[in-house]
Amino acid sequence: MSGNFDLVGPLPGANFGGLLSRHGAHGAHQFIAEAERDPAALPRALADSQGLLLLQGMSAMEGEPALLARLSRLFGTEVENYREVLTPANMVHETVPEIFLVSNVPPANRPPPRQPDPPLTVDGKLPTQFPHRKGWHTDQSYRRPPPDISVFLAVVPVPQGQGQTLFADGTAAYAALPPGLKARVEGLQGLHVRPGTGRSRDSVLAGETPRPLGPLERPQLQPVVRMHPVTGQRALYLCESGQMDWVEGPFVGLPPGPHGEAADLLFELMTHMTRPEFVYVHEWTRGDVLVWDNRCLVHTATWFDADKERRVMWRTTVRGNPGTDYAGESKSWIAA
Ligand SMILES: [Fe+2]
Repeated sequence: MSGNFDLVGPLPGANFGGLLSRHGAHGAHQFIAEAERDPAALPRALADSQGLLLLQGMSAMEGEPALLARLSRLFGTEVENYREVLTPANMVHETVPEIFLVSNVPPANRPPPRQPDPPLTVDGKLPTQFPHRKGWHTDQSYRRPPPDISVFLAVVPVPQGQGQTLFADGTAAYAALPPGLKARVEGLQGLHVRPGTGRSRDSVLAGETPRPLGPLERPQLQPVVRMHPVTGQRALYLCESGQMDWVEGPFVGLPPGPHGEAADLLFELMTHMTRPEFVYVHEWTRGDVLVWDNRCLVHTATWFDADKERRVMWRTTVRGNPGTDYAGESKSWIAA
């Protein structure tokens, strides 16, 4: 790519993604200043890298968190202010409200995901494929328009071998769909809902009564196949049990609920999308920033030993270019 940035990727260990560095760069300050001088360069690098970009050596952001918001602004017109959307105050950075805290220590106190059952595959490896690996989602798909990009900084990662983030490439997975499945998802719409409303598959199977939904948290329709507004490529756009609506969905036009054709189709698609060739496992190093495109990737987090380890990660969410499917829409989660 042009300018002062060089893709030194591909991302090691992945069939997609890029590793970006800058010749002679010394940390986040210089990197971001360079990026701001050529503001199209980083978004172009992200698109050229199939939606996943690793930037290393960004730990100067820890002492100057506004740098993470500055970096995020290069990827879209709007970086979410988490104080404006009634996010619990303990989950939001004290001085930079664009930063969402993903952490098991105060003030956020968020526990890690559960271990898969069994914890390892039969050949002793980290489980990555659905349904053994659970939690696959794309950020905030319960909103319309959904966000484009997430940016994630490792402030205090846990030791490698736990607390990884896994990504699956929805573009490659769509391209590799068998013709029969490709025909079935054409024009299909998924129904996504915020976790914690009693509408997840587990909640429905457990017989929980879903709580009444407010007007700003109604389940939202999303195309199962999204056309990427920058690359023009089609990608699977799906979540699994926790962020689809298993009361009225998961798919429009198929019998709703946790059993039957719709459930079988979602399981088949998620199992396909998380096949090993589409998945990347990121082991975090302090100062890593991962930028991912929610329009064409899904991701999930893994367990870590929260009794022994503290983990502090900062996330921003960037929106502004969801594509023509969403043209002119007002935000589903904010009162008109
Ligand atoms: Fe996420």
